[in-house]
Amino acid sequence: MALIDTSGRRHRDLRVSLTDRCSLRCRYCMPAEGLAWIPGDHLLTTEEMLRLIGIATRLGISTVRLTGGEPLLRPDVEDVIAGIVSLPEAPEVSLTTNGIRLPELADTLASAGLRRVNISLDTLDADTFRQLTLRDRFHDVLAGILAAQNAGLAPVKINTVLLRGVNDHEAPALLAWALEHRLNLRFIEQMPLDPQHDWDRGIMVTREEILHSLQAAGFDLQPRRDRGSSPAEEFEVNGGPETVGIVGSVTAPFCQSCDRVRLTADGAWRNCLFARSECDLRTPLRAGAGDAELAALMSAEVRAKLPGHGVADPDFQQPARPMSAIGG
Ligand SMILES: C[S@@+](CC[C@H](N)C(=O)[O-])C[C@H]1O[C@@H](n2cnc3c(N)ncnc32)[C@H](O)[C@@H]1O
Ligand code: SF4
Repeated sequence: MALIDTSGRRHRDLRVSLTDRCSLRCRYCMPAEGLAWIPGDHLLTTEEMLRLIGIATRLGISTVRLTGGEPLLRPDVEDVIAGIVSLPEAPEVSLTTNGIRLPELADTLASAGLRRVNISLDTLDADTFRQLTLRDRFHDVLAGILAAQNAGLAPVKINTVLLRGVNDHEAPALLAWALEHRLNLRFIEQMPLDPQHDWDRGIMVTREEILHSLQAAGFDLQPRRDRGSSPAEEFEVNGGPETVGIVGSVTAPFCQSCDRVRLTADGAWRNCLFARSECDLRTPLRAGAGDAELAALMSAEVRAKLPGHGVADPDFQQPARPMSAIGG
């Protein structure tokens, strides 16, 4: 049995959300007052999570990315990492984080088996950071980036979301800064996954606009051909070898080569970030289901994956869960 859908896509990459909670309040992701958090008794224990990840690796998953919410708020995150890398299939483990706890944790996570990290940073200005995230943690994120590099996590990628009139003018400065610090920058188009339902295609900063802004600032950008299943289109900067990535999820979707599935912190198995249905694995798991039964549920959900996310369709509706409760 493998994780193959009716469009023939084979799934190899699993995103696991470790928690839906967060230490920041990025305005495109979480309201100031937070959200109705997943109840504690619904959260998978580390043992339950590792069992499901183990089943998924036997179905062909070879890379696991830990995310959230803020995954470093999970107290036993290093045990999760160590447990995954010691599975017989030894999947590669990476992490997407806001970086705030990396100064204290980067070495421990690297020792546990973490290989790579994506750190989110949308601005180089401390005031803009506070306005965007409602927290005064800009310098903690910078320290987290340095800690990740010093711990030997490589590459360190930076995820940036641009908001019109807030930080969209910073694209060239962010790229210059990333090149100077040997960081791999990726801009992500804002997606309709916010709990406030404020997303509007008309005000989203598009892939085209980002490219134009970088080129107008004097960067020579040449597309790379070997994209594979990566969500980011990579461009060589000024002749390379450095690159900048753009994840044009909305205006240039990459659904045809998608190889990702998701497991939420409360044990829902999802075939797409935008899916409006999901498979509850926690209930059968806790009712004593065997590995074969859980594997069959995973495979069936993947088979039901739609060919595309449908954001451009006039009748598109956001999933019930926001990004932070799915795992971005
Ligand atoms: C949901 S966060 C979870 C991990 C961690 N808290 C972080 O910020 O890196 C993962 C990524 O999703 C991005 N993100 C959140 N909401 C988004 C949205 N509506 N559209 C596009 N990207 C979004 C964040 O900027 C971040 O880079
Ligand atoms: S983008 Fe990440 S850091 Fe920002 S509020 Fe969402 S989960 Fe938290």
